[in-house]
Amino acid sequence: MNDQRYLRQLKAGRDFGVGNPVATSMDNFIYLIGDTASRKCLIVDPAWDVAGVLAVAAADDMEVVGALVSHWHPDHVGGPLFGHDVEGLAKLLEVHPVPIHVHRADAEFVQMVTGVSRSDLTLHDSGDEVMAGDVVVQCLHTPGHTAGSMCFKCGSALVAGDTLFLQGCGRLDLPGSDVDEMWRTLTERLATLPDSTILYPGHDYGQVPHAPMGDVRATNGHLNVPSIEHWRTMMGR
Ligand SMILES: [Fe+2]
Repeated sequence: MNDQRYLRQLKAGRDFGVGNPVATSMDNFIYLIGDTASRKCLIVDPAWDVAGVLAVAAADDMEVVGALVSHWHPDHVGGPLFGHDVEGLAKLLEVHPVPIHVHRADAEFVQMVTGVSRSDLTLHDSGDEVMAGDVVVQCLHTPGHTAGSMCFKCGSALVAGDTLFLQGCGRLDLPGSDVDEMWRTLTERLATLPDSTILYPGHDYGQVPHAPMGDVRATNGHLNVPSIEHWRTMMGR
């Protein structure tokens, strides 16, 4: 039923968090994924300006029925960041309570940075499906940037959080990141995606906001590393 898919890519400072210099400088993307028939949607990584994101959904006549978490970092879920208190999941639960879908390996960290409780979270494993009306979103566990990072596949779209950008991938020098797991994510877990899959990243770090995996494979140096030894060296290990 994914031919009735609704997908919005919202950019910090442009579509939400307008006038917030920190949000603007972080270049985050937030996504709405839903069903144009039932008008139900999910928010991927609600942070920075929950009211602003909910307003976009409302203007499109979409009902937000859940939140998907790509990983626990505060620019994606809210919490303390560089001396700022980023709003996120806690605010969403306050103003529009919905289930929060998270990979089980990131759940504890989501609780720690946002203050939400375990009972607010729906824990997932790779391959689990979350419905937005009749539209299916598949959770793919893609560890590396964090232990519980997930990408979300919906039809031809891959919403990738900080796992993969158009250029490069998520940082691997942060607490909980894992260079070898990211190698397996890039060379095994995401390797079977067809070239026609459209990559929608978690930050606007590219020259274009999204691109087919075929183009990303041709131009992203992090996907063209000959061996894990080269990869470790490249990542300073
Ligand atoms: Fe991150």
